[in-house]
Amino acid sequence: MYTLEELDAIVEKAVITLDLKGKPEELYEPIEYLISIGGKRLRPKMALMTYNLFSERIDNEILYPAMAIEIFHGFTLIHDDIMDDAPLRRNQTTVHNKWNNNIAILSGDVMCIKSYQYLAHAPAASLSKVLALFSKTAAQVCEGQQIDMNYESVPFITTEDYTEMISLKTAVLIACSAKMGAIIAGAGEKVSDMLYNYGYKLGLAFQIKDDYLDSFGNTLTFGKAIGGDILCNKKTWLLVEAFKRANPEQTNALLDLFKNNSISPEDKIATVLAKYKELGVKECAEEAIAGYHAEAREIVHAAGLTKAQESQLIAFADKLIDREK
Ligand code: IPE
Ligand code: IPE
Ligand code: MG
Ligand code: MG
Ligand code: MG
Repeated sequence: MYTLEELDAIVEKAVITLDLKGKPEELYEPIEYLISIGGKRLRPKMALMTYNLFSERIDNEILYPAMAIEIFHGFTLIHDDIMDDAPLRRNQTTVHNKWNNNIAILSGDVMCIKSYQYLAHAPAASLSKVLALFSKTAAQVCEGQQIDMNYESVPFITTEDYTEMISLKTAVLIACSAKMGAIIAGAGEKVSDMLYNYGYKLGLAFQIKDDYLDSFGNTLTFGKAIGGDILCNKKTWLLVEAFKRANPEQTNALLDLFKNNSISPEDKIATVLAKYKELGVKECAEEAIAGYHAEAREIVHAAGLTKAQESQLIAFADKLIDREK
């Protein structure tokens, strides 16, 4: 079995050697740009790691599908940044700000199509399963993104609403990556489903951490503008929890902020962050993240795997949770 560091290096090399050039340049340059400016490559790493639990030989049968997932992810980021009016991604100007919205829409579209071209390299024996899983997941991500946008103009959502939204927009793609590696390696259904659940729990933790870092992270490390969620009235884990804890006066203060169009972005962010502090939601988010992390570990411990498989999955989960970017 490869070490996680070796798998990281394999993914990085595969990403660098991707050929995403084409004409007209306006369509393909943004793709090269987004892929080349970095990213954690979590999803392809996940797919390679789960594949490698069952197969020692890492070649194009897994590398292409893993790249498909990363390219698909890139497409969702480009469109997400238009939707969220985000100026910064991976510490660089977002595609729609560097070029324009129309270019960002079309480059994203072509990335989505390219992801299917890469996916088609999955071995014939698993191709129909892989396509079904990926297509279902891709549609779910769009569903989650629409729900996320709908919630911008809703004052309150429940924790259940929140969890459904992040399941769709984030967790299912990470779960899909974990399961796809196993399917392509020819692992059985039971263990593939277990890995889906493992990826799913980690995906929930991952999005709560993303919400956390959007408020409490460091721009330079995180690579995105801090407070972006607050400016969009996003129903993040922090806000949902803040409303649960707020007294009527604090609730009204938060609701007034959403409607207040004359407050400066800086003041709005500072005021909401102060409320979060007052209500202790930061510590509580850390607990929620740890809770899903523990659930992912439980799933692995209960699966009857070999010691080597088990420790690889646990090490991957630990590394994923412990992030500041
Ligand atoms: C960002 O994904 C979108 C979310 C689901 C939170 P990542 O945090 O994996 O972004 P990159 O690929 O590392 O830039
Ligand atoms: C986005 O959630 C999930 C997808 C891109 C599908 P966010 O909007 O929180 O992601 P970031 O923070 O912009 O990366
Ligand atoms: Mg978004
Ligand atoms: Mg966003
Ligand atoms: Mg975010």
